[in-house]
Amino acid sequence: MVLLKLNKVGKSFGSGEAQTVALDGIDLELKQGGFLAVVGPSGCGKSTLLQIAAGLVRADRGSVTLSGESVVSPPPHVVYVFQQYTKSLFPWRTVLANVEFALEGRSGIGRAERRDRSRNLLELVDLQSFAGHYPWQLSGGMQQRVAIARALAADARLLLMDEPFSALDALTRLDLQNLLLDLWADRALSILFVTHDVDEAIYLADWVAVLTHRPARVHEIIDVGLARPRDPITTRPISIGAGISERFTRPLSTASWMPNKRSARTIAPGAT
Ligand SMILES: Nc1ncnc2c1ncn2[C@@H]1O[C@H](COP(=O)(O)OP(=O)(O)O)[C@@H](O)[C@H]1O
Ligand SMILES: [Mg+2]
Repeated sequence: MVLLKLNKVGKSFGSGEAQTVALDGIDLELKQGGFLAVVGPSGCGKSTLLQIAAGLVRADRGSVTLSGESVVSPPPHVVYVFQQYTKSLFPWRTVLANVEFALEGRSGIGRAERRDRSRNLLELVDLQSFAGHYPWQLSGGMQQRVAIARALAADARLLLMDEPFSALDALTRLDLQNLLLDLWADRALSILFVTHDVDEAIYLADWVAVLTHRPARVHEIIDVGLARPRDPITTRPISIGAGISERFTRPLSTASWMPNKRSARTIAPGAT
């Protein structure tokens, strides 16, 4: 079943000579329980695409639907996880109080239950002993764990993640990627994950949508087709073999670009 659908989405900023066309005719589908990565070069329009999917920004053209309903404002159970984790947590609140925030104002959840649930979620992301710390006392990876715990407290069903691990060192990133994969499987989440890192996309996702340079169009959609659990050592050569990164280093020729042409290919060895 299709959960999130972007249909011919277009978006421009500014006007006249100062106009920037960010997105041009983006068609994407995320299945219920699916993991779709969107990769594209810096500045191509990935964050804009995600903000439109989240109902934070309106598209100029096309439509966005969630479970068949038009998205015109941020829908419930959809949580956006930002790239800049230093800006996404409240610095004046402790780690526990940041997670509790997602439960405040929810009817039927009292103070004690809010606290209990938040503590359980902190345990899930392995931060139980940091409940009383403030965000600025934590490393970047720990702050993103808090953001993930808070998303779960908000009863997220769909996570929209904007390069959430790109500022982390390699080992911390791998930890967080594995945490995310576990939560995705255990909690039947659906995830739309934006990244400029092709290896990361292929390690994590079922499907990878490759965007062109700005204005972003969907160049192709790749069915990763690799069994899980995956191993980053073996998925990396596959991502190199897919030849996606090369395309980021030289702009796709517009002459060779066929509007609305979409290919689907599978890159897993032996997959059909
Ligand atoms: N609010 C805005 N006003 C004007 N231009 C914007 C705005 N948001 C994004 N842009 C422009 O749209 C293009 C795509 O930006 P963005 O979606 O942030 O790219 P990415 O996330 O792929 O790096 C960039 O040229 C950027 O400068
Ligand atoms: Mg961005």
